[in-house]
Amino acid sequence: MNYSFSEIIEKKKHSIELSAEEIKWLINSYVKNNVTDYQMAAFAMAVYFNGMTKAETLALTQSYVESGYVYDVSEVTGLKADKHSTGGVGDKTSLVYSPLVASYGVKVCKLSGRGLGVTGGTIDKLESCKGWTSELSKEKFIKTINEVGMSITGQSDDIVPADKKMYALRDVTGTVDSIPLIAASIMSKKLVIDSDSLILDVKVGAGAFMKNIDIAEKLANEMITIGHGYNRKVSILLTDMQKPLGKAIGNAIEVKEAWDTLNNNGPEDLKEVVCTAAGLTLTDLGIFDKLEDAISDCYKKLETGECAHFLQEFVEAQGGNFELIKNYEQNFTTKNKIEVLAEENGYIISQDAETIGLLSMELGAGRKTKEDLIDFSAGIYLNKKTGDVVKTGDVVLTFYTNFDINNDWIEKAKKSFTISSQNEKQQNIIKIIR
Ligand code: URA
Repeated sequence: MNYSFSEIIEKKKHSIELSAEEIKWLINSYVKNNVTDYQMAAFAMAVYFNGMTKAETLALTQSYVESGYVYDVSEVTGLKADKHSTGGVGDKTSLVYSPLVASYGVKVCKLSGRGLGVTGGTIDKLESCKGWTSELSKEKFIKTINEVGMSITGQSDDIVPADKKMYALRDVTGTVDSIPLIAASIMSKKLVIDSDSLILDVKVGAGAFMKNIDIAEKLANEMITIGHGYNRKVSILLTDMQKPLGKAIGNAIEVKEAWDTLNNNGPEDLKEVVCTAAGLTLTDLGIFDKLEDAISDCYKKLETGECAHFLQEFVEAQGGNFELIKNYEQNFTTKNKIEVLAEENGYIISQDAETIGLLSMELGAGRKTKEDLIDFSAGIYLNKKTGDVVKTGDVVLTFYTNFDINNDWIEKAKKSFTISSQNEKQQNIIKIIR
C-alpha cells in the first residue's frame, strides 16, 4: 500500500490516530530514503508535541524491529535474561548483574550501547580492556553465551537500522525526550534478541533522560505495554539518578569498580541496584519464589566473590585483556590527578549527577562530538558519597585526566555537592513495577 507523507503529517498534527500500516510505511520509506530527514524531523516534532497512542507506539516499535536483522537465539541452552538501563552517570550495573545472573546458570544475552550525552555506555567501558570487541558474528555471540554464560554485542548497521537513523535525527532536532520515541527506540533493541525475562532499569533524576518520577513511570508503562504486545515478561525498576551510581565515573575506572563489587568490595548503592535487578530476573524465571530471598542470595554471592570469574571469562572470550583491569593502578595512570576538598564540616546531602557527568566528559571520559575519542583512563572518583560525614579538608572527589586542569572544572566540582549539618536519607530504588 502506498501512503502519502503529507496525509500522515496532517493526521499527526491534528492528533488523529495513524494506522499500523501508515506507521510501517513511513518508517520503511525513511529507511529507504524515500522520506527525507526534514520530513521525518517534522514528524518527530509532531510526535513530541502530540504523543502517540499505545497502538501507534507498538506499531512504531514493530516497524523498527522489522527494519533489520532479528537474532535467532534458539541454540542458546537454558533460560535467557536481559537487563537494560535507560542510561545514567556511573551506571555499571550490567557489568555486575550479568556475571551474577550467569552464576545461577541463566544465560545473559545483551545488546548494549555507547555513551549518550552525560550518560556512559557499557560498550565504551568494556573497550578499556584492550582488544575487547562488541562486533561479534551472530555465531560467535551464541557461542560465547553458551560457553561463558553471557555475551554483550552492539548495534551494527543491520540491527534496528530504523532506530539508528531516527536516533541520529532526533539527537539534532530536539526530539530525543519524547516518551513514545524513547520507548520504541529502547524496546526495539531489546526485542531483536529473545529473552525469558527482561528487566528495565529506568533512571530518574538530574543525570538521566527522565528528570522526574511521573515521566519515568509513563515511560515504564509504555515499555511494559510494548513488551506485552510481544508476549515478553518485563519487570521495571525505577532507580535514582539524582546522584551518580557507585563511586567511579568514567570507563576503566567503572570496570574496576564492577570487578571490585563482584569481589565483595563494592559501594552499597550499586550492590542494592544490582541485587534488586538480579532478584527480579531470578523470580521472573521461577528460580526463586520470593523477591527478598532472591535478593539476599545475590548479596551472599557478591560476598563470596564466586561469580567474579564470569566477568573475566566474558571479556577474554570477546578478545579483551582483563589483566589491565586487575592491575588497574599500573595501567590507567593519568598526567593529572586533582583532589577537590570539603570546605566545611557536615554530611554530604547531594551530589549532582548531571554536573559530575559533564565534568567527566570534560576530563576526557566521554564524547562531546561523535568524532571524539575516549580516554579510558580519565574519570572521577567520589571519595565521599551522599550520606557520608565530611570534615573540612577531606577529599570529596578526585579528577583523573590527561588534559591540563581548568580552574572552572574545580569550581563546578565544588558546586556539584552540598554539605549540611543535618543528614538526609538516601533512596536508591524508587519503585518496582511488574
Ligand atoms: N536510549 C535509547 O536507546 N533510545 C532513546 O531514545 C533514549 C535512550
